[in-house]
Amino acid sequence: MSVCAVKAITVTSMCGIIGYVGPRVAHAVVVEGLRRMEYRGYDSAGAAVITPDGISVRKKAGKIGNLDALLASDPLPETGIGIGHTRWATHGGPTDTNAHPHVSADGRIALIHNGIIENFATLRAELRAKGVEFSSETDTEVAAQLLGDVVAGGADLADAMRAVCLRLEGAFTLVAMDATDPGRLVAARRNSPLVVGVGEGETFVASDVAAFIEFTRHAIELGQDQVVDVTATSITVTDFFGNPAESHPFEVTWDLSAAEKAGFDWFMRKEIFEQPRAVADTLLGRFTPEGALTLDELRIPEAELRSVDKIIIVACGTAYYAGMVAKYAIEHWTRIACEVEIASEFRYRDPIISGSTLVVTISQSGETADTLMAIRHAREQKAKVIAICNTNGATIPRESDAVIYTHAGPEIGVASTKGFLTQVAACYLLGLYLAQVRGTMYGDEIAAVMSELASTPDKIQQVLESLDQITDLAARFIDTKSVLFLGRHVGYPVALEGALKLKELAYLHAEGFPAGELKHGPIALVEEGTPIFVVVPPQGRDQLHDKVVSNIQEVRARGALTIVLAEEGDDEVTPYADILFRLPKVSTLLQPLVATVPLQMFACDLATLKGFDVDQPRNLAKSVTVE
Ligand code: M6R
Repeated sequence: MSVCAVKAITVTSMCGIIGYVGPRVAHAVVVEGLRRMEYRGYDSAGAAVITPDGISVRKKAGKIGNLDALLASDPLPETGIGIGHTRWATHGGPTDTNAHPHVSADGRIALIHNGIIENFATLRAELRAKGVEFSSETDTEVAAQLLGDVVAGGADLADAMRAVCLRLEGAFTLVAMDATDPGRLVAARRNSPLVVGVGEGETFVASDVAAFIEFTRHAIELGQDQVVDVTATSITVTDFFGNPAESHPFEVTWDLSAAEKAGFDWFMRKEIFEQPRAVADTLLGRFTPEGALTLDELRIPEAELRSVDKIIIVACGTAYYAGMVAKYAIEHWTRIACEVEIASEFRYRDPIISGSTLVVTISQSGETADTLMAIRHAREQKAKVIAICNTNGATIPRESDAVIYTHAGPEIGVASTKGFLTQVAACYLLGLYLAQVRGTMYGDEIAAVMSELASTPDKIQQVLESLDQITDLAARFIDTKSVLFLGRHVGYPVALEGALKLKELAYLHAEGFPAGELKHGPIALVEEGTPIFVVVPPQGRDQLHDKVVSNIQEVRARGALTIVLAEEGDDEVTPYADILFRLPKVSTLLQPLVATVPLQMFACDLATLKGFDVDQPRNLAKSVTVE
């Protein structure tokens, strides 16, 4: 297929939505739920409830703290039904007026939205011609006004929602309530996530189970193009035409404590410290006592895996760097050519894909639009797609042929940490599994790698116990303007990841380079005192180690201040390290699992010292559901 023939793409904005109906104080449930979903967007927050006098709304630009302050001075009435929204702005700036919920002109319908309504201009013109006045610049208000218009014409709320969905183009998850029907919420889903929380005598709808995990672990995942009509005690799911539709009940395997900071200053710091357990859980149960590797969720027949002649790993950001690490291992173990590509580039360059191409996508959230579009494109070309994902039932695993779940638990800090380590571990499982199926490694070789992998959680723990040195280091670099990171082989993506963490959290110029590439240009950046982190490969693997030691000398000779990450007992680097951080001994391919950790902590500490919001860095959102 040529690039021009690529199908039109729908995108969705990145917001958190929640609705509640039941005996509790609805606005308290809603605002607490928003707090747990604030990672999805923090440009504004708002809530609405139904009172005997109609709909009551409070909304405020900025983080939830601003909404809290508004509610403290002007509380919402206590009722048993409410909706709430935390926004990452797309159409219309992050103002109070553009904040959700939006209310229909007659004040009867309140609506929240996650997505982008692509035909909003046409619909708005149509409604304006009918005399409807708009108060915001958002695409969302079109859905609220349209729903209000259909309901005013006599339609039932669920019928009206279905009629509206059939008129909307783009991506949307909507939740609405009707002031004249105060025990009921109606929600619709296309493309962005929506789960229903099933409590005892109470029901929740939300973008993420974290929003209601405090109250119930029973959930229902809605499918594409479905409408759910809920009261405190009933849940009815249909398609957009009103036909009964199948939805998927599931149990959330983690509890409230996983979605709370547990005494840490930041979720990110907590998540860094959770990495030994996250990696251990991801590896758990994958190796039988008989010595065979099993991947239960991998439902692609072995014969098809044997006929694979090319692997393309597709992902974004940190997940892309996990893919870069995986390439080295997968090619080494399987001897299949493996490319790694940034999802947004892959999608539009007309990649060469066939039925014997295996596309591996990596995504913590399972909702990243660029990665999702890459999957759709790959499957149109008949490639098989395996997703590596951390979020049960998210869109990416649902649209893939097979999935390997990482078991990191919820990752709430916007900067990915345990996501990265578990993605590397899951990719390694996949690589070893392919090697087993295709016979490119002996069973005892696979067992040896698995045994070393199984020991990495202890090694990561060892790194965590020596992080005080990193905290001291961060204090020393508080005024630094630029930091470079060098690595070779799997150390190169680790360098890139170290630089990304610093950019997104400490807002610093930071770049990662292959250590050998520096002399081809970037070494001109080095001046007296430039801090350069160098990831040194374990000793004794070909010439990698010695080459990196030479690269350290090159930058040091030009005045760089070297911060060297090298394994215990590596004395060759000592003379060239201004600061030396010791890593536990691991083999080359496993080194990213230990070497990334101090770099994560450095970024977290430096951003903390600079007074930045580590969990919610500026301009970012956790799931990037716009292309
Ligand atoms: O949810 P995903 O793994 O698909 O997200 C991919 C990237 O957006 C994500 O890794 C991003 O780069 C992080 N903020 C990095 O810390």
